[in-house]
Amino acid sequence: MKDVYIMGIESSCDETSISIVKNGCEEIATTVLTQMDTHALYGGVVPEIASRMHTENITMVLEDVLSKTDITMKDIDAIAVTYAPGLLGSLLVGVEFAKVLALVYDKPLIATHHIAGHIYANNLVKPLVFPLLALVVSGGHTELVLMKGDYDFEVLGTTKDDAIGESFDKVARVLDLPYPGGPNVEKYSKEGSHTYELPKPMDNDELNFSFSGLKSAVINLKHNEEQRGNEIRKKDLARSFQDVAFDQVVRKSKLAIERFNVKRVIVAGGVSASADLRERMAKLCEEMQVDLSIPPMRYCTDNATMIACAAYPQFLNKDFADFSLRAKSQEYFFQNCD
Ligand code: KG4
Ligand code: ZN
Repeated sequence: MKDVYIMGIESSCDETSISIVKNGCEEIATTVLTQMDTHALYGGVVPEIASRMHTENITMVLEDVLSKTDITMKDIDAIAVTYAPGLLGSLLVGVEFAKVLALVYDKPLIATHHIAGHIYANNLVKPLVFPLLALVVSGGHTELVLMKGDYDFEVLGTTKDDAIGESFDKVARVLDLPYPGGPNVEKYSKEGSHTYELPKPMDNDELNFSFSGLKSAVINLKHNEEQRGNEIRKKDLARSFQDVAFDQVVRKSKLAIERFNVKRVIVAGGVSASADLRERMAKLCEEMQVDLSIPPMRYCTDNATMIACAAYPQFLNKDFADFSLRAKSQEYFFQNCD
């Protein structure tokens, strides 16, 4: 079969990224332009600024990625774009840009879900072999997903309230740590000890998660200590929070592995960039003699490489979008899959 080159476009939050991937698993060239430093000035992503910056930068990102390879627009077989979920204005920039490229260069257009992207980033490490259990941990998602084939997503458990990444970002704010929260909580926790007692959420047999009670416990603890005139030990509190949060993730993953007799696990989403979580999942999978795959760090947080990877099975299925494609701020990734 002829090689397939897919151009992926990702602009759902604060990264403008374009990538070219061969056969859904081999990265040819990628450019990721992060707006992190700008949003850090405001303590979080400002949607209006994000979409404006995507608009200003996306053409430059395209020129940059094409300058890294001999592959030209003529060689590209399809244009894939993140259409959901994310910040509407940001998604819109990528979706409309993808439509223009598809129209001008006469290429098929593929509408790819952001979370499918995180999952299929694992194809860059080794091919996904089904059935598998996907642990999705990002800023907007916390899910255990059973996949019996390509684009066959059965959600076994999800969060009842906040997503795990969201809780890291909120706790970072409480601890006065700069944006982005997750990596800074991780940095602090490395130097701290688990000395604060925090409630263990969802301490039951369910495969669902909860993070808001844990987050509130951190807020209350800080407030109470301040009322008493005590200094909070921020590094210890970061460590205590991270331990309890990851303990829940590992506990639920273990339950799902046992219950569904899973032999392969993949981890996906921004929080999988945490060295601590990677170690904990490696330990669990070793104990349970289960094969584990986690993307290399740079593919864990948002990038277009993962979008081009996830678009490959869609390409093979001729699952193409037309120019009526619209960006959607919210859409569960299992809804439009059979
Ligand atoms: O996948 P992602 O880049 O964007 C979404 O799709 O949401 O994930 C971003 C989330 C943020 O909440 C961020 O704080 C978290 O991933 N994150 C981390 C780490 N790196 C990123 N959380 C904990 N530890 C990390 N090292
Ligand atoms: Zn993401």
